[in-house]
Amino acid sequence: MNADHRDSKQTSEASSDNENNLPRHVAIIMDGNGRWAQARGMPRVEGHRRGVHSVRMVSETCTELGIEAVTLFCLSSENWKRPKEELDFLMQLLEQYLVEERDLIMKQGLRLKTIGRRDRLPDNVLKEMDKTLEMSAGNRGTQLVLAIDYGGRDEIARAARSICEDVRAARIEPAEINEQTIAGRLDTSGLP
Ligand code: IPE
Ligand code: MG
Repeated sequence: MNADHRDSKQTSEASSDNENNLPRHVAIIMDGNGRWAQARGMPRVEGHRRGVHSVRMVSETCTELGIEAVTLFCLSSENWKRPKEELDFLMQLLEQYLVEERDLIMKQGLRLKTIGRRDRLPDNVLKEMDKTLEMSAGNRGTQLVLAIDYGGRDEIARAARSICEDVRAARIEPAEINEQTIAGRLDTSGLP
């Protein structure tokens, strides 16, 4: 299936997504990597490493099905409490993923999007993230949304801060704030 498949479907009112009753957006909370590995006598980090295969399978399947967006919860804000060695490994794995999956992301026409805080991520991860984001920005296939250092309340706090700044600068009136004002400032803005 090529990357333009989704667009050709979207041009028809009765898209096969609806016919097949498929969701437009699928979200997956990745969990149990460590337990999976430990149950097999392997170190926890091996579970993370193998998790990359699952991510690849998920993105391939979503592309084939023509799912509009798939969100993968990679690292929550709470995950920073983990041991430094495990966090270092996860950051290294993330950087490696962003580099090594680039070809496949482009081949499948996936459009990468990230949600979550950027300011606590190492520079090398941000650099590869931005490169893959930029490179895939024009793709029209499934949106691959990686939730990294993502927390729902943090997302709301950042949206509130941005609205407050606009109010302080007199760009909007408090009375004008509505659901759209908030939705447009969430990381998930624009996702189905
Ligand atoms: C999910 O697996 C991966 C990340 C959150 C990075 P876990 O690391 O939570 O594995 P378990 O749940 O401890 O087995
Ligand atoms: Mg867990």
